[in-house]
Amino acid sequence: MLRLGVNIDHVATVRNARGSAYPDPVRAAKLAEEAGADGITAHLREDRRHIRDADIDALMENLTVPLNFEMAATEEMQKIALRHVPHAVCIVPEKREERTTEGGLEVAREENRIGDFIAPLREAGCRVSLFVAADRPQIESAARIGAQVVELHTGAYCDFHYEGRFDERDAELERLREMSTYAHSLGLEVHAGHGLTYETVKPVAAFPEVMELNIGHFLIAEAIFVGLGPVMAEMRRLMDEARA
Ligand code: PXP
Repeated sequence: MLRLGVNIDHVATVRNARGSAYPDPVRAAKLAEEAGADGITAHLREDRRHIRDADIDALMENLTVPLNFEMAATEEMQKIALRHVPHAVCIVPEKREERTTEGGLEVAREENRIGDFIAPLREAGCRVSLFVAADRPQIESAARIGAQVVELHTGAYCDFHYEGRFDERDAELERLREMSTYAHSLGLEVHAGHGLTYETVKPVAAFPEVMELNIGHFLIAEAIFVGLGPVMAEMRRLMDEARA
């Protein structure tokens, strides 16, 4: 079954916009859990622009579904992850000036560093996922250094779709398809995410090797109008339809 991971970062973005105590991302996570989320994702960024340390503490304490802790490959984040030992850690590239995670992690050129970085996390019992572009050398390196999961970055595919650049979108989708087959053939579990919406989810959900989609911004945005339960139900329906 294709799992749906719900990223609750932008509930925290709204909270932080006013420096208030609401809306509470942990409440959103519990609601998502009740509505059938298979996991919750939260990204503790270096600048704490949305999720904060106390949110991670509360998520670890209150969730019954697995937490996918997104983090940059820094010493600070490694310490936090080792203190909590979440079900999964997803290592992402992070730039202070970016609005969102822009590209995939550079694993191939930094194989030794990333390998050393993930080893203690894996030994502690976290499932280690690397967020990578649909690029063969990155996937090969991920397998070589012992990551259990790769999450394929669907951001470029979604951007091309909304910019009306359909040839490039289709080419990127093809790369994603080939690389999910390739990653699976190397023994990696394949996840995908970034930028997915009702309009873009089905072709990715249809890849048989993809086990999990992580979706945040669209679900939280649409929840403003219809509520988190209904938006998740519709996303789930589209995912199941694509898979069937
Ligand atoms: N997967 C990863 C690794 C991400 O960094 C993000 C964004 O934080 C997502 C999935 C979800 O992307 P979006 O919020 O665009 O759905």
